[in-house]
Amino acid sequence: MTTRAETPHDDALRDQIATELITARERTSGLTDCVGDADLVRQHSPLMSPLVWDLAHIANQEELWLLRAVGGREPLHPEIDPLYDAFEHPRSERPTLPLLPPDEARRYAHDVRGRVLDLLAAAPLEGSRLVTSGFVFGMVAQHEQQHDETMLITHQLRQGAPVLTTPRPGPPPPDALSLPREVLVPDGPFTMGTSGEPWALDNERPAHTVPVAPFWLDTVPVTNAAYTEFIEDGGYREPRWWTPAGWEHRQQAGLTAPLFWRRDGGAWVRTRFGVTEPVPPAEPVLHVCWYEADAWARWAGRRLPTEAEWEKAARHDPAAGRSRRYPWGDAAPRPDQANLGQRHLQPAPAGSYPAGAAPSGARQLIGDVWEWTASDFLPYPGFAPWPYREYSDVFFGPEYKVLRGGSFAVSPVACRGTFRNWDYPVRRQIFAGFRTARDADGEQAVRA
Ligand SMILES: [Fe+2]
Repeated sequence: MTTRAETPHDDALRDQIATELITARERTSGLTDCVGDADLVRQHSPLMSPLVWDLAHIANQEELWLLRAVGGREPLHPEIDPLYDAFEHPRSERPTLPLLPPDEARRYAHDVRGRVLDLLAAAPLEGSRLVTSGFVFGMVAQHEQQHDETMLITHQLRQGAPVLTTPRPGPPPPDALSLPREVLVPDGPFTMGTSGEPWALDNERPAHTVPVAPFWLDTVPVTNAAYTEFIEDGGYREPRWWTPAGWEHRQQAGLTAPLFWRRDGGAWVRTRFGVTEPVPPAEPVLHVCWYEADAWARWAGRRLPTEAEWEKAARHDPAAGRSRRYPWGDAAPRPDQANLGQRHLQPAPAGSYPAGAAPSGARQLIGDVWEWTASDFLPYPGFAPWPYREYSDVFFGPEYKVLRGGSFAVSPVACRGTFRNWDYPVRRQIFAGFRTARDADGEQAVRA
């Protein structure tokens, strides 16, 4: 006998949730089964947690939100909760904690997941805001995928023989070289953020109308070739391209090129997941901090787009007068529309994915590289913390810059036109690049 009203929609939602949880776990396993225990417990960079911390933290959050908050179950191991509370221990401290060893962390994650799938079969998906439309299950799936991206960053920072391989992205389409350098996004207000996306996180809410003056936006992200011109032109030696804080950081940190690049004879090479290879000129630049992106834009006579400009370019459909979920429409990303989900371990060449273009003609707004914007991470008008303050509220302020669009390392479940990421302007190990903009003042577009 069942006590809840079962509908076909309910079944489809439960199937979707189960698929997202299983997809996330396959990725987590792929990132933690490919190295030995010594690599799992080691801290590969003071910026990152040991991989085994991420693994048990994923399970602990799943237990807290699904088994305890939704299911009302008793804690499985209450004594470990403080170890896996991200706010209690900064990353640099985590290797010194009495963490669960790899086999126990795996068993814990497996136990929690088994109970969650049982719970999912019977839990109500209405009646409280936490479970309506499966929100909290979606939040947990997104959380695991976000940690999978973090673990992929740890892999990029790890020294040693390569352990991860994926096919390279295909060549760009024939029109990639003849695309206009920039596209016009016309004047007018648009709907920013969302009030209706069921699994949107608190900082994406609520939907609100924002006026945006007309502007030109790069059709594609800035490439390695274009970035190299800045280096060769002495961009790293010229303070006038940098903000005062950016110049100070450039000097202190000794920045001379993107992270993981080095000179080999007369050419630039980079190390990517343990493989050193020539820097591919047509690929969007990766592993630059906000200060570098901002300096490049000034050198090019341009600027970074604001977050509102980015979102309008990515979501506004001028014909229908509404905002879409994605540049191409409302349907979930297809593999021919965006480079997401770690299908490839690198961005695709600039101009790829014409099927994923926005109405303006801009390409690769979703996937490939996170894009730095000019904007600080701030709440939208009417923001309310949900379901906990520590997700977004404690991070709002001018010390963080917003990134948009997701990278090749981001899962489709944790990527949409409204999704907001944020980080310090000095951060370089993340999979971030950028594109640039300029005010539209009646001139014609700059050709490539
Ligand atoms: Fe987390």
